[in-house]
Amino acid sequence: ENLLPDGLRILGTARSELDREGFAALVAESIGERIPGAERDETALRGLLDRLEYSAASVDDDASMQALAQRVSALRNGDVLYHMSTAPRFYGPACQALAAHGVAGAGTRVMLEKPIGKDLASAIAINDSVAEAFDEERVYRVDHYLGKEGVQNLIALRFGNALFEPLWDARHIEQVQITIGETVGVEGRGDYYDESGALRDMLQNHLLQLLCLVAMEPPARFEPTAVRNEKIKVLRSLRPIGRDEVATESVAGQYTSGAIERAAVPGYADELGRGSRTETFVALRAHVDNWRWSGVPFYLRTGKRLPSRSTEIYIQFRKVPYSIFGGATASDMLPNGLLIKLQPDERIELDLMAKTPGLDRNGLRLSQVGLDLDFHEEFANQRRRIAYERLYLDAIEGNGTLFVRRDETEAAWQWVDAIADGWRAAGIIPKPYPAGTWGPAASVSLTERHGHSWRE
Ligand code: BG6
Repeated sequence: ENLLPDGLRILGTARSELDREGFAALVAESIGERIPGAERDETALRGLLDRLEYSAASVDDDASMQALAQRVSALRNGDVLYHMSTAPRFYGPACQALAAHGVAGAGTRVMLEKPIGKDLASAIAINDSVAEAFDEERVYRVDHYLGKEGVQNLIALRFGNALFEPLWDARHIEQVQITIGETVGVEGRGDYYDESGALRDMLQNHLLQLLCLVAMEPPARFEPTAVRNEKIKVLRSLRPIGRDEVATESVAGQYTSGAIERAAVPGYADELGRGSRTETFVALRAHVDNWRWSGVPFYLRTGKRLPSRSTEIYIQFRKVPYSIFGGATASDMLPNGLLIKLQPDERIELDLMAKTPGLDRNGLRLSQVGLDLDFHEEFANQRRRIAYERLYLDAIEGNGTLFVRRDETEAAWQWVDAIADGWRAAGIIPKPYPAGTWGPAASVSLTERHGHSWRE
């Protein structure tokens, strides 16, 4: 779409000795594998490949870092955006090496992938080390969920409509559920995943970011400081779930063998090749302790090898205070619900009660109907964009609204660390669940104990 500035060059760097052509061939091959033929535009591809450069470097080899810095300076034609997709332990050293060679000053930014550490202490160490080279406004921490169309649509829905805001609080909302279900297993990333688990891999970042967007106060503007100031307040209002609460407020699970979409799949330990106590599923009953949300449970769950790939937010409103219809109808009366489906399809559904057609003689009969808005149909001519397209564009243009600020990452770790510590102290080991099910039975009782049930 010709959104990249004319002079923009892309300099690849890794330890592998490659030349420009070799790097371009790798990129072309990867694009060839991923972009469906019908969407491929040879001129645009050529244009992209022409922008590529390559320079091998290794953080522990100063001469190579110096050569890299010289290339950056020689190619520089405006701002510079570094994107580090390395193991997080290299973030600090790499940033410092760039600074030492004079290419981390004004007009440069750095984009960092998750995970920023594995707990609060390691996150602080990484952030401190990066901060020696790049000040916070120039650090772009990626949570790719924020780049998803559906997630931005949640912001549009909440703050572009007057309809929801008056109802968006504990007086009108009974419970909130956020689910990120995945059908995949660990996808050959066992070494990383086994150290991490669902709590650190998904909940600390993606799930808590979604929770922030649902629960935050309206920011004054859609710009980095205003949005992130509101998100951090939510994170700081999360009621701690620690040693005394984990047994009742959290569930950890690990998949065993089972079937997904009728195909047999192995259990986690088999995929990993050894036994493990890492959770591949987590469910929590969280609370945002502030005026708006006091008393409203936020049920959060995420897991691998669940029955379907689905990311959704479900807001259940309170029931009508009293049914004028009486009798049997009173028990048929269901609360209104708002479903915001983010993946795989983007859809918004509002559950309403309506009269069931017919000549009722004992009073009206009511049933639940859904007002359904399908974004794929509604915007059928618009191409859907994957998260990284949005994030790269924003980072190139210096807009940090959809990136995570240091204090958010650290507040999220602090909350998650208490849960991990609680599990350790209470000797909680993940409960098994067969692949292709919605986690251990304990996840069902987590909600049902409080008169709620997961929307499935
Ligand atoms: C990543 C996690 O951050 O998000 C993966 O490390 C997970 O374990 C992935 O599979 C899910 O992202 P998406 O975009 O496929 O929902």
